[in-house]
Amino acid sequence: MTDVKTNPPLAVVILAAGKGSRMKSDMPKVMHKVMGLSMVNWVINAAQPLNPTKTVVVIGEGMTDVQATVAPCDTAVQVVQNGTGGALQAAMPALEGFEGDILVLLGDTPLIATETLSRLIAARHADDATGLSVLGAKLSDPTGYGRLLIGEDGTLQAIREHKDATEAERLVDVVNTGAFCLDGARVRAWLSQLDNNNAQGEYYITDLPEIARHAGVTTRIAITDDAAEMQGCNTKLDLADLERTAQHKARARFILDGVMMEDPDTVYLHHDTAIAAGVRIEPSVYFGAGVTVAQGVHIKAFCHFEKATIGAHTVIGPFARLRPDAVLGEDVKIGNFVEIKKSTIGNRSKVSHLGYVGDCDMGEDVNFGCGAITVNYDGINKFKTTIHDNVMVGSNTNLVAPVTLEQGAFIAAGSTITKDVEGNALALTRSPMKIIKDWATRHRAKG
Ligand code: UD1
Ligand code: CA
Repeated sequence: MTDVKTNPPLAVVILAAGKGSRMKSDMPKVMHKVMGLSMVNWVINAAQPLNPTKTVVVIGEGMTDVQATVAPCDTAVQVVQNGTGGALQAAMPALEGFEGDILVLLGDTPLIATETLSRLIAARHADDATGLSVLGAKLSDPTGYGRLLIGEDGTLQAIREHKDATEAERLVDVVNTGAFCLDGARVRAWLSQLDNNNAQGEYYITDLPEIARHAGVTTRIAITDDAAEMQGCNTKLDLADLERTAQHKARARFILDGVMMEDPDTVYLHHDTAIAAGVRIEPSVYFGAGVTVAQGVHIKAFCHFEKATIGAHTVIGPFARLRPDAVLGEDVKIGNFVEIKKSTIGNRSKVSHLGYVGDCDMGEDVNFGCGAITVNYDGINKFKTTIHDNVMVGSNTNLVAPVTLEQGAFIAAGSTITKDVEGNALALTRSPMKIIKDWATRHRAKG
């Protein structure tokens, strides 16, 4: 067996105490969502596969909603927002006695990738002398960011904040993404040496590399080539940019996994959307939370889905809406202007045009005709419709729930069904048709 060197235990600290006043929002910045998931939860999810023994999110006073969003992760309160170094200090009591690696991440930088974090941790363990690593990125416009000052041997000498940098230092285009991996056994000693003697009067986490070096520790960098990983968020315009970037990445992932999209930019995904290979998606389709699409499904243009399951080889749309708890079987056909809510549609059943199916349990091989609807609501309560296999529901039928149509029943077009229908029976509620000969001719003559 080869001797595999295992890394020490990992703790994650996510800095999220900033109010984010430029967001002009009632919510703390990190609560804003990208693809339907709070930014801080993106960061937590990116770190999760690294199996941290503990994750601490540093929040400001009174940020109880952030606390609820990140649970069961721990939170630590930074009472005074005196800088990123101060924020890490605020997390340390929650890491009492912890001497493994501490991975520090920013709560408003949601697109950081797990694989990149692994490389950052690997840089911290490049050799025994190394005790700190920083994730850098090369930017065409580094303005505003901390610059990584790298020595000839490739190790990190210092990080210089933009506001504290000399003209020469500002020419450096490798910047601090904000992600650090620190030796937890030594970080407390380094933190005790921080001061706020700088342009912003803050305690900077970015002073730690120089402090560590003075203590004889080697400090290193890892680099990401994907600038999106450090894309931060200060305004709602930044949030819109992050959404665009995240959507683009998610679509690209699905397409490379075998999903076909004719106009990917018009397909909106949720962070938890699951789409199997071989699915075809036409333009302008919206996926809300909790949608699963099985293989071979064809989604035609202009559909809207939330919390729905679409079985294999089903064809849906154009202009179809699946609301929460719509569960479609295999080879189902859902056509234009059909809305389905809290209903199960059995294999091979068809709801091809202009229908509403709500609170319904529909069997297999059912034909639910054009304009037919379940009447599931009496203004106070909701009631269930049960349709067994092989039922034919004629066009423009009202099924007034609670009602059951047994196997093989036929419902004549235009009927309003208020009672259960037994298997293989015909049910119709039509008034007799009358023909009045030449009525129209006489009617026009009056004009
Ligand atoms: C920071 C880095 C900079 C880096 C940039 C990357 C420092 C001093 N500078 O700058 O080198 O290029 O991020 O985006 O670290 N926070 C707290 N408490 C505080 C202050 C900040 O929790 O007291 C949190 C914020 O909520 C935010 C993060 O730390 O999530 C970064 O803080 P921010 O003020 O945006 O730092 P920058 O000036 O952008
Ligand atoms: Ca920032």
